[in-house]
Amino acid sequence: MTQAEWWKSAVIYQIYPRSFQDSNGDGIGDLKGIERRLDDLKSLGVDAIWISPIFPSPMADFGYDVANYCNVDPRFGTLDDFDSLLRSAHDRGLKLLLDLVPNHSSSEHPWFTESRSSRDNPKRDWYIWRDPAPDGGPPNNWISDFGGSAWEWDEATGQYYYHAFLKEQPDLNWRNPEVRAAMMDVLHFWFARGVDGFRIDVLWHMVKHADFPDNPANPAWRPGQPDYTRVHQHHSTDQPEVHEIAAEMRAIADAHGARVLIGEIYLPVRQLVHYYGSEDAPGVHLPFNFQLIGAEWNARQLAERIAAYEAALPPGGWPNWVLGNHDRPRIATRVGPEQARVAMLLLLTLRGTPTLYYGDEIGMADVHIPPHRVQDPRELNEPGIGMGRDPVRTPMAWDASAHAGFGPADPWLPLHPDWAARNVAAQREDSRSMWRLTQKLLALRHAHPALAIGDYRAVDATGDLLAYERRHGDDRVLVVLNLGATPQGFSIPEWAEALSVIASAQGGSDPAILGPDEGYVLG
Ligand code: NOJ
Repeated sequence: MTQAEWWKSAVIYQIYPRSFQDSNGDGIGDLKGIERRLDDLKSLGVDAIWISPIFPSPMADFGYDVANYCNVDPRFGTLDDFDSLLRSAHDRGLKLLLDLVPNHSSSEHPWFTESRSSRDNPKRDWYIWRDPAPDGGPPNNWISDFGGSAWEWDEATGQYYYHAFLKEQPDLNWRNPEVRAAMMDVLHFWFARGVDGFRIDVLWHMVKHADFPDNPANPAWRPGQPDYTRVHQHHSTDQPEVHEIAAEMRAIADAHGARVLIGEIYLPVRQLVHYYGSEDAPGVHLPFNFQLIGAEWNARQLAERIAAYEAALPPGGWPNWVLGNHDRPRIATRVGPEQARVAMLLLLTLRGTPTLYYGDEIGMADVHIPPHRVQDPRELNEPGIGMGRDPVRTPMAWDASAHAGFGPADPWLPLHPDWAARNVAAQREDSRSMWRLTQKLLALRHAHPALAIGDYRAVDATGDLLAYERRHGDDRVLVVLNLGATPQGFSIPEWAEALSVIASAQGGSDPAILGPDEGYVLG
């Protein structure tokens, strides 16, 4: 592994900036707040932070609607604050990744204002405009991921524009070379400022079929399921040309040296791995692997998914794993607080770069949001079907002081009900806490090359047990996990008999008899 490949052994920590640390008392987290918490992150032991969008935005989708790609929203601070945060991160040996949202801009971005101003505006073709269907309705049956037709009628110019998400998030036309060039300039801008990489929002959405055919209907769709799943997004996503764009972005990242690109892609593994690109035209370094998010939480399915993913990786493709993010239910809610410890052990010992979602290190669960406090447009558009994301975006709890140390004022979303006990300060003091378990596992990754960059090999296990070996040179580690709620016997392979327990999910000491929700790392 070279220095340029720092991202292979790194653990990435995702910060949802509205909810991390408020420094100015407006109830919303900000860059100065993040800077103030860098030492906490350093002592936890992560290597890089990825911050969800911080750019000027009307906040229709809380920053995923960008009105200026090269500045900072005043709610989060200023460019100077950003430079200061970046310097402080680098001083501590932490890398910093930003969130690039190239598929769509805000409808308030000057590019779109121009584009919608008239049919012959030079920027008209920067977005996706189409005439109505013969019946006057939308040009085709494509559905927005947030529900309803993906086409919005523009009375003034008599055409529809396409938006894969909110109507306030018009999709850019990536078939237009000027759009490409403008967005590549954005990469240069932030790379020149010193950012270490980008997470790229909805990379697989960026190019649409040139002829805009109808998407095929999904016969399995049932009422109560999200509207967008009524069709398969066959023609609106994952088009072959998207790989040229990923390759162009990669060439820019490589030219700046030691940077990383991570693509957000929700696709079956078979299609996902294409986003690594080829030897001649490498794509993103890490196409996000959401296998652990989608999996049923049982040992056999996880074992299968891990094996299938490892087998599908192209030569030289480095794996990565994600347990949670700002869009999906938290792990502690999905599997329960005890099993969440096993999940952390899994995330931090599999082969590949892990991404850790803020708050998971203290076992935060989804927070019930009363109807009058709902903020997320996803929930407001299709209420009550479980798609709202506010529950996973609640403020971080730092200590037992007012507002959990999040800031001087009432935060924009409610804290979790048990924040007075479930916070970083309390868990630092408790040797059995989730925070301390996470800290220990991160320290082990740094101490054991087998865990950081070693090979992966499945070890025979049945029922609720999952076991694997990690190895790098002489360094060899065995991981055994009990995904179930009953004790399980496990026969330790001969090579591992001499190894001792170096981490345990529930504090047990005998890997030959794993208690419920118990997991061991032996090394
Ligand atoms: C994916 C992001 O993770 C999500 O939060 C956002 O709403 C959509 N992309 C649209 O940008």
